[in-house]
Amino acid sequence: MQNIRNVAIVGSGLMGSGIAQVSASSGLNVILTDVKQDSIDNAMKSIHKSLTRISKKQSGSDKEKADYVTLTMSRIKTSNNVSTAVTDADLVIEAAIENIDLKRGLFAQIEQSAKKDAILTTNTSSLCLEDIAKGIDDKTRFGGLHFFNPVPMMKLLEVIRSDQTSDETYATLIKYGKAIGKTTVSCKDTPGFIVNRLLIPFLFEAVRMYEREDASMTDIDAAMRLGASHPMGPFELADYVGLDTCKFIMDGWAAKYPDNPAFAPSPLLDALVSEGKLGRKTKEGFYSYKKN
Ligand code: 3HC
Repeated sequence: MQNIRNVAIVGSGLMGSGIAQVSASSGLNVILTDVKQDSIDNAMKSIHKSLTRISKKQSGSDKEKADYVTLTMSRIKTSNNVSTAVTDADLVIEAAIENIDLKRGLFAQIEQSAKKDAILTTNTSSLCLEDIAKGIDDKTRFGGLHFFNPVPMMKLLEVIRSDQTSDETYATLIKYGKAIGKTTVSCKDTPGFIVNRLLIPFLFEAVRMYEREDASMTDIDAAMRLGASHPMGPFELADYVGLDTCKFIMDGWAAKYPDNPAFAPSPLLDALVSEGKLGRKTKEGFYSYKKN
């Protein structure tokens, strides 16, 4: 089994930044790479904010808390060049948007530049590993690591192996998951793995219920919070995950499985996305998060 010391994370959005944070706070050296410098800048700011929040709950003096934040931040380097960023990595985690062509292009670049024994993984939320890996030569070292938002708080990590992932790669991924303090579960290489296969159709079912005018958004959210003990109702959660992400996932499944009614798109969600109302990140989605 490989020893993971250096982790390269490709994509500095919500998920990439969270993965960088948990890896660095577990003592690993991280390089966070993205073509967009403003995305990297935002990621570093949100990591700092999240670490400060966590440090406030730790025991110790104010100096020790500040040191924890500084030390963790110092383990994260950034880069705008994927090829150079992955050269020293033992583990590469791709956390780019859900676009199959983009991911394939990235893995072609990554495989060319990474060490021959580096493990290559994707944080895809809905695509099959087999489809992403089409252009990868050595598929034995490729697997899936699926994290949940907010990454520092969510305890789960789904570890996915395709038919070609080697036992050694899989064992190393489980070991990495434990090293960063996550509980790991495994699933076959199926669309959405465990959580999203159940969660995304549930979110869309809630939207359909609202579209039929069976109940209001706030009542559906209250019902699931108070009647099922969910931490957030489905509309709150969809806004939190990002309506564009929900749409990307569902559109992909609808195209691949057109006869499955659970994967039907939602006109309301489509309209919000086309208006740029993507949820919390744009301050408006199903709800408004604008401060008056
Ligand atoms: N960094 C550090 N700490 C954080 C944090 C972050 N990003 N977000 C929340 N926290 C901490 C807060 O400091 C707070 O700590 P405290 O209670 O000790 O003061 C605690 O978490 C609770 O936060 P809040 O009081 O702000 O709010 P909530 O009690 O509502 O908790 C939540 C926030 C943890 C996000 C909770 O609402 C929750 O679990 N929601 C559901 C999230 C979920 O289902 N995620 C999965 C989405 S699916 C996915 O990601 C897959 C992808 O492929 C689509």
